[in-house]
Amino acid sequence: MDLFSPVSLGDLHLPNRVVMAPLTRLRSSADGVPGDLVAEHYAQRASLGLIISEGTFPSAESRAYPGQPGIVTDAQVEGWRRVAEAVHARGGRIVMQIMNGGRVSHTEITGTDRIVAPSAIAIEGEAHTPSGKVPFPVPHALTTEELATVRDEFVVAAKRAVNEAGLDGVEVHGANGYLLHEFLSPVSNQREDAYGGSPENRARFVVEVTRAVAEAVGAGRVGIRLSPMHNIQDVVETDIDDVKATYDALVDGIAPLGLAYLSILHSNPTGELVQDLRTRFGGPLVINSGFGRVTSRDEAVTLIEQSHADAVAVGRAAIANPDLVERWQGEHPENEPNPATFYAEGAEGYTDYPRLTA
Ligand SMILES: Cc1cc2nc3c(=O)[nH]c(=O)nc-3n(C[C@H](O)[C@H](O)[C@H](O)COP(=O)(O)O)c2cc1C
Repeated sequence: MDLFSPVSLGDLHLPNRVVMAPLTRLRSSADGVPGDLVAEHYAQRASLGLIISEGTFPSAESRAYPGQPGIVTDAQVEGWRRVAEAVHARGGRIVMQIMNGGRVSHTEITGTDRIVAPSAIAIEGEAHTPSGKVPFPVPHALTTEELATVRDEFVVAAKRAVNEAGLDGVEVHGANGYLLHEFLSPVSNQREDAYGGSPENRARFVVEVTRAVAEAVGAGRVGIRLSPMHNIQDVVETDIDDVKATYDALVDGIAPLGLAYLSILHSNPTGELVQDLRTRFGGPLVINSGFGRVTSRDEAVTLIEQSHADAVAVGRAAIANPDLVERWQGEHPENEPNPATFYAEGAEGYTDYPRLTA
């Protein structure tokens, strides 16, 4: 297969297999509204096969960062409507990554009286709040009854994103140490109800959330992102047998839904763990090899040519090159991403990376 050939991920029809990975950039307002600058940033990248938005919070309590956008208030929905409109006007497609930050937050960031997690275990380290760095607080362990509320927040967010804001779909964020991922690891999940203990139990909540979202907006518009063994934000997954059992249970649970895609972040995309999950899933696989090395054209071309995945999620190269597909297709030189402006304010390092001149 050719990286630059079309592919369908469920109801999403991509002109090429270069997908913009979800990228938190913290350019939204204090009240979580993505503005014109955010719309311009995504619209500039409309020639990517698919844009996956930055992680977006479905409830005030689940916000992880100042400057992160939400999909809760009418103003936030309206902001996203303008983003979707701008991307569509330039011929692109955009899905929203719905992210509950779980315990990776602080009440000074959420403005609520608690932050939540599977178990009352704090992350070591410090949260970056508007007033500086403070130790991560001990989260409230969600009760069994409260899990239904958290699940429903994903559902309402997905409906608003698709039906009201007009995005093309949603991605359930089950990766990188945020709430859903916290359920998967026996280190961050020490629950004693049906959502903790065995691998099947730890996978249960992710399956239930994904199923509910798929039923609400149609499975063909829903993807999910997982990052087994990423070992980030104190979500520790080091026992390979347990990891396999947990992710097998998860993927067996979501496989019958007929989702648009499964997206996996793992340092060894061609290895047994990832490829076994792909087989179990049975649908399209989007791959990303993680933070260790910046995804390159060569890596992406090879992964698709050798049929290790159906599409490649590209992070930092898509930050630095609004016209990444054209550059990769023509084997043109690339702009270098500047990490100093990944989470900065304003247009610098956000909407001012130059395109190739004609
Ligand atoms: C600035 C930045 C923000 C990110 N934000 C998110 C996010 O919101 N959601 C997510 O799932 N991954 C996030 N990631 C991970 C990327 O999607 C991607 O997996 C990572 O950048 C590695 O791919 P690359 O080598 O192509 O950059 C982020 C990465 C970076 C560098």
